[in-house]
Amino acid sequence: MKHLLSIEQLNRADMEQLLAAAAVMKRERGRHPTKPLAGQTWALIFSKSSTRTRVSFEVGIAELGGRPMFLSAVDIQLGRGEPVKDTARVLGRMVQGAIFRTFAQRDVEEFAHYSGIPTINALTDEEHPCQILADVLTIEEKLASLAGKVVAFIGDGACNVANSWIFAAAKLGFELRIAAPQEFQPDPALLQRAGGKVVCTADLASAARGADVLYTDVWVSMGKEDESAERIKALAGYQINQTVVQLAKPGALVMHCLPAYRGKEIDDETFEANAETIFTQAENRLHAQKAILQWAVA
Ligand code: CP
Ligand code: NVA
Repeated sequence: MKHLLSIEQLNRADMEQLLAAAAVMKRERGRHPTKPLAGQTWALIFSKSSTRTRVSFEVGIAELGGRPMFLSAVDIQLGRGEPVKDTARVLGRMVQGAIFRTFAQRDVEEFAHYSGIPTINALTDEEHPCQILADVLTIEEKLASLAGKVVAFIGDGACNVANSWIFAAAKLGFELRIAAPQEFQPDPALLQRAGGKVVCTADLASAARGADVLYTDVWVSMGKEDESAERIKALAGYQINQTVVQLAKPGALVMHCLPAYRGKEIDDETFEANAETIFTQAENRLHAQKAILQWAVA
């Protein structure tokens, strides 16, 4: 039994094993020789909105022989203040695994500790590990290997997706550049914990120049809606558009974890020109998460 709580806590060998298994899951979709979740019920506890994560986990659990049970936090007692550790102990006696999307990373960790069942982080304010595994799978499909490549993350460099990229960089041996205004640069303590080659700059052009991948995420993450106006103002110069694409390596991938806000972090022309990559990224959530589920119960 294993948990996937963060990229930070995932070791390199497990990460490589998950990526290889995800490629197999994709190739063999509909022809899986075993059903590792047969007879199991998995709870999806969501305190924030979701399209991709929810649907890909519900479909993935079913394809592996299990039964998904979606629990919106507002509909269960968790939303009325029942402690995470009590919710965890109840669910741990009734279901065989949990997918948890919430605000605080410590809540997912506490759930894993108290539930005694495999627990998967489906996004917290600090990390989005499932997203990064699907993204790396996508890059490996399109550029062969990520080792030695340059990924430029442009936008809110202190968000969950950026954090997970930072932890992935050292483990997979690629250069990560973060282009963000000063107030949206990554936490220095996190950079130090992660190690690896991570270059942080406020200069978008220097980050984009020669990059193999240009990556962005929303400027206003879930839970930060009160800061919308300041964020949109501060991040206005950090859009991926044709000017930025021209600076990257010819044929560079443009990626977005979605949902996308055209005219903000990416313009419509650039989004549509790269829709094949972006929606392959979304599809790869399914394959990567099926590999995570299989690994978690092994
Ligand atoms: N990228 C992602 O996690 O999308 P959802 O919020 O729709 O799940
Ligand atoms: N940083 C974004 C990711 C959405 C998938 C958020 O937390 O809202």
